[in-house]
Amino acid sequence: MTTATEAKPQDSRGLAGQTIGDTDICSVNQTQLIYRGYEIADLAAHATFEEVAFLLLVGHKPSTMELAAFTDELVSLRAIPDGLKTVLRDIAGNPPHGPGAHPMSILRTAVSYLSHFEPDTEDNSPESELHKSKRLLARIPTIIGYGQMVREGRDPVEPDPNLGHAANLLWCMTGQKPSELVAKVMDVSLTLYAEHDFNASTFTCRVIASTESDLAGAVCGGISALKGPLHGGANEMAMEMLKDIDAFITSGEGDVRAFMDMAFAEKRKLMGFGHRVYKNGDHRAGILRSWGLKIAEAQGPDSKKWFDIGDEVQRIMLEDKNIHPNVDFPCGMTYFVMGIPVPQYTPIFVASRITGWCAHIMEQHEHNRIIRPLANYAGPELREWNG
Ligand SMILES: CC(C)(COP(=O)(O)OP(=O)(O)OC[C@H]1O[C@@H](n2cnc3c(N)ncnc32)[C@H](O)[C@@H]1OP(=O)(O)O)[C@@H](O)C(=O)NCCC(=O)NCCS
Repeated sequence: MTTATEAKPQDSRGLAGQTIGDTDICSVNQTQLIYRGYEIADLAAHATFEEVAFLLLVGHKPSTMELAAFTDELVSLRAIPDGLKTVLRDIAGNPPHGPGAHPMSILRTAVSYLSHFEPDTEDNSPESELHKSKRLLARIPTIIGYGQMVREGRDPVEPDPNLGHAANLLWCMTGQKPSELVAKVMDVSLTLYAEHDFNASTFTCRVIASTESDLAGAVCGGISALKGPLHGGANEMAMEMLKDIDAFITSGEGDVRAFMDMAFAEKRKLMGFGHRVYKNGDHRAGILRSWGLKIAEAQGPDSKKWFDIGDEVQRIMLEDKNIHPNVDFPCGMTYFVMGIPVPQYTPIFVASRITGWCAHIMEQHEHNRIIRPLANYAGPELREWNG
């Protein structure tokens, strides 16, 4: 039995606290998130997502001419082939018209499908990987939008060359041109989600790339890792929890405090709270909340109530558990008041994080050594099969 004076053994599960490599792309610490030397609050306030994407993929802040060429190239690459549209119609529809596949699984299939038609899928040179990264960045909003329209039994729309990346994503998903404010908030959220050093999905991409496998294969792994509720899936779960709390209050069962006490008694994990690195709060959360609140306030009390409930949940989590929200918590309510269907919250994360993933895949290939750690064997002692 462990006595009070004995130190608790360090929990090394999940590679907690371990530094496993170098990167030039991003730095995450208790107080800052930095993309290639620029702090996230600075980028969220002053850069567009296209500029951030260029910064991450190419490695420096774009000049005016570089940005114009990059933006034009992305617009020119947005269309998806008819063969993929057929696949999306097969898998994205809900029963009885389709299997109702998970939007993240649909995205994984789409990235894999597209790779079969790239002439340079197996080419891991920096030029080819940059080109493939841009193609994915440009096409992912089209795939997300097409899948969502099929889910809803609506006619998909084609990407709009007159819209920027964020506004076009909203257009493809909803078939409606977003207001300037809504497009701006989407743009900021894409910037906030773009990169986060060796998080689970990026690490997955790097492990796959380290075997000298191809970029599309690594991205498929990244999508699978991001899908889980402990990682990217948390933004959807956070909104579902707020909806549960609203129903709890409306049905007269109790207030936010009563719901939270119930959740604590059941030892539930609250989605959108906690972080492996940030123990004093995730500064992306405050930035996104303030932008989401602008939309909610402009819309009125029916929208504002989600932020009121969210603020109370946040207050109680901090007071009782000393656990802060991460970016996925305000993301849930922000995307909700923007009218985005909940199942697309995590795919939107992909539309952004594709930039960070591809930057890491290129960096891994540039300085590659296979990632192959050791395991601490804790199984049975040596024994004989015929013993
Ligand atoms: C993000 C997360 C996976 C980090 O996991 P981790 O680094 O292994 O967690 P920690 O070691 O910091 O957890 C410390 C304690 O806080 C608790 N905790 C952490 N996050 C919690 C949450 N969201 N709700 C309730 N309790 C939580 C843990 O259960 C643990 O309690 P214990 O010591 O009694 O076992 C975890 O906080 C979590 O599951 N959060 C919810 C999912 C989420 O929002 N994911 C998005 C991350 S950006």
